Amino acid sequence: MIDLSTTLAGVKLGNPLVLASGVRGNNAQLLIRAAKEGAGAVTSKSCSLQPREGHANPTAIAAPTYMLNAIGLSNPGVEAEIDEIKEAVKEAGVPVIASVFAGSVDDFANVAARIAVAKPAMIELDISCPNVHNEGEMFSSTPQAAGAVTKAVKAKVKNIPISAKLAPNVPNIGAIAAECQKSGADCITAINTMPAMWVDVRARRAVLANKYGGLSGPALLPVALRCVNSIRKACPSISIIGGGGVTSGEDAARMLMAGASAVSIGSAVWYRTDAFGEIKAELAAFMKEEGYHRLSDIKLEE
Ligand SMILES: Cc1cc2nc3c(=O)[nH]c(=O)nc-3n(C[C@H](O)[C@H](O)[C@H](O)COP(=O)(O)O)c2cc1C
Repeated sequence: MIDLSTTLAGVKLGNPLVLASGVRGNNAQLLIRAAKEGAGAVTSKSCSLQPREGHANPTAIAAPTYMLNAIGLSNPGVEAEIDEIKEAVKEAGVPVIASVFAGSVDDFANVAARIAVAKPAMIELDISCPNVHNEGEMFSSTPQAAGAVTKAVKAKVKNIPISAKLAPNVPNIGAIAAECQKSGADCITAINTMPAMWVDVRARRAVLANKYGGLSGPALLPVALRCVNSIRKACPSISIIGGGGVTSGEDAARMLMAGASAVSIGSAVWYRTDAFGEIKAELAAFMKEEGYHRLSDIKLEE
């Protein structure tokens, strides 16, 4: 018998595959669809206090080994998002993780407190966005800023677990995760996309209208494994949603070996027709071949 269940900060998942924020979950119906396709939990697109328009087109490119996007965190604002999350919580049949972002510590606490009304299973803090009070530096760039957001949210949201979502482009991701845990984070999500650009050499132009975007997909996997493993070393007991470039069952096992408690699936939904069903079946087949019965057996030899 292969047992694919896992627990994230007390939240039970039937399998470890979590739809990553922003890739498909722009509304309740898309979240419900990912759950029907086999996701163990689903994360909504990050929302802010006020509605926000995205960047100009082109906002995304897909190559065989990577994706680049600069969507610009477009979203309808938290008041509209509350209804979407409520519907998803009612219909999805799997835990719904609501993602939020803001430009200041106070706004983070306010947007998290508003989305809590919809009773998601967890709230994910997308702290990889710019801090308006600190010259646009990401909150996740320093332990101090990441900890300040986490602490402010925990003071306002008492009964819903919180996950801090970290960026890979920092000198010591383990120290940032440890400060988030000290400040009350119940879970860490890692990683967000990596800053990148692509050039059309004949047109002599950057391909994205925004010039810079976030790298995701297969090319990100080695970076993500390293980040997740550093976080696991710094925070031996915290729940980790590990992701970045996972597109197969063996990739999911790699992420679990690196220290993840669950595995996020983002760009893979563009690379595979039935990403959740196929990756889940491949992970179960890998476990059977290697003699693993449960996810907690999948460990890295040190
Ligand atoms: C089109 C697109 C939109 C995204 N939007 C968000 C978002 O709103 N909030 C967030 O925290 N991450 C967002 N992400 C990042 C993903 O959640 C994920 O962390 C990243 O893509 C790495 O995982 P992957 O390689 O499996 O896609 C987005 C990624 C993509 C490709």
